[in-house]
Amino acid sequence: MIDLRSDTVTQPCAGMRDAMANALVGDDVYGDDPTVAALEAKICEITHKEAAVFVTSGTQSNLCALLSHCARGEEYIAGQDAHTYRYEAGGAAVLGGIQPQPIVFNAQGELPLDAIEAVIKPDDPHFAKTKLLCLENTQGGKALSLSYLAEATALARKHHLNCHLDGARLFNAALATNTSMDALCQPFDTVSICLSKGLGTPMGSVLVGSDELINRARRWRKMLGGGLRQSGIVAAAGLFALEHNVARLIEDHQHADAVARALNELTILEGAVAHTNMVFLNLPANMLNALQQHLKDANIIISGARWVFHKDVTSGDVDHVLEACRAFAKNPVN
Ligand SMILES: Cc1ncc(COP(=O)(O)O)c(C=O)c1O
Repeated sequence: MIDLRSDTVTQPCAGMRDAMANALVGDDVYGDDPTVAALEAKICEITHKEAAVFVTSGTQSNLCALLSHCARGEEYIAGQDAHTYRYEAGGAAVLGGIQPQPIVFNAQGELPLDAIEAVIKPDDPHFAKTKLLCLENTQGGKALSLSYLAEATALARKHHLNCHLDGARLFNAALATNTSMDALCQPFDTVSICLSKGLGTPMGSVLVGSDELINRARRWRKMLGGGLRQSGIVAAAGLFALEHNVARLIEDHQHADAVARALNELTILEGAVAHTNMVFLNLPANMLNALQQHLKDANIIISGARWVFHKDVTSGDVDHVLEACRAFAKNPVN
C-alpha cells in the first residue's frame, strides 16, 4: 500500500529500531535518562533556545505551551484552521480555561497583521486578556517567510503578547525557504517541533523556549500524564531521525512538486498545487470520491484532497501514483 494520508504513517527503519533497542535509559521523571537529555540538548543546539522538554505528541507540546503562557480567562490568537485551535479537542479551553480567538489564515498560511491587531482586546473587564499569538509553520504545507514572522511577532510584542510557534513541520519550512532552524525559532518564546511527522519516529515532540517557560511546561507535562520513565527508548528514535532523516525531506518536496506538475497536465485533474511535502487537489467531491476509489484499487490510500509525501513513498511509488492518475483521467467516472 502507498499511503498518502499523512506523513505520520511512516514505519521506523531498521537503523532507527536498532538505535531504540540499544538506547541508554534511566527514569526521566527523576531527570535520569541520558538519551532524553541528549535529545533535548541537541534540539536546543539546533534552535538556539535555552531549554527543551521531550513530550509525547505535538498536541501535548502545544497544550503544555498554551498552559505555560496563559492562565484562566486569558486568550490566544490562532488560525481558524490551526492545529492548536481546530484539531486538539479544545484542550486549552477544557483544561486551562483559556479562550481561543481564531482568525482566518490568508492564502500564504499567515494570520494577516490587521486581523491580528483587530482582535487584540483592550484592558477592560468585559474581555478575556489577550496573552499569546500562536502561528503555525508550515501551515497546510506552506512555509512562512522570515519577514512575515518578524512583522507578526513585532506586532505581538508591541501589544505585550508572547509568541508560540506550532512548528510540527518546521524542518520542512527550513529546507523550503533555505533558512536555518534557529532563525525560524528566534522570534518565538516557545516552539513545538514534531519528530513523528516527516522525520519518521514512532512518537514524540520537543517544546523549546526559555528556562522559565520550559520549567512551567515540565510541570504541565507531568500533570497531563506525560512524565515518562525510560523514554530514552523513543528519544533515541528522535536522535536517529535528526541525524538521518532531515536532509532527505527535500525528496518529499520534490515528489510533491512532481506530482502536482504531472496532475496539471491531465486536464481533468488540473488545479493541483504543491506546498513543501503536500499536494492539494482541486476537484469536485464526486470526482474526488471516484478518484479515491480508483486509487484504492491500485493500492494507494488517500483521505481526500490533501496528499502527503514522506520517507516511505519512493520515486517508484510516485510513478505508480501518476500511472493510476493517468488511467483515471482517461476514464474518470467508472
Ligand atoms: C500542524 C500540526 N500541529 C500539531 C499536530 C499534532 O501532532 P500529534 O498528532 O503528534 O499530536 C499535528 C498533527 O498532525 C499537526 O499537523
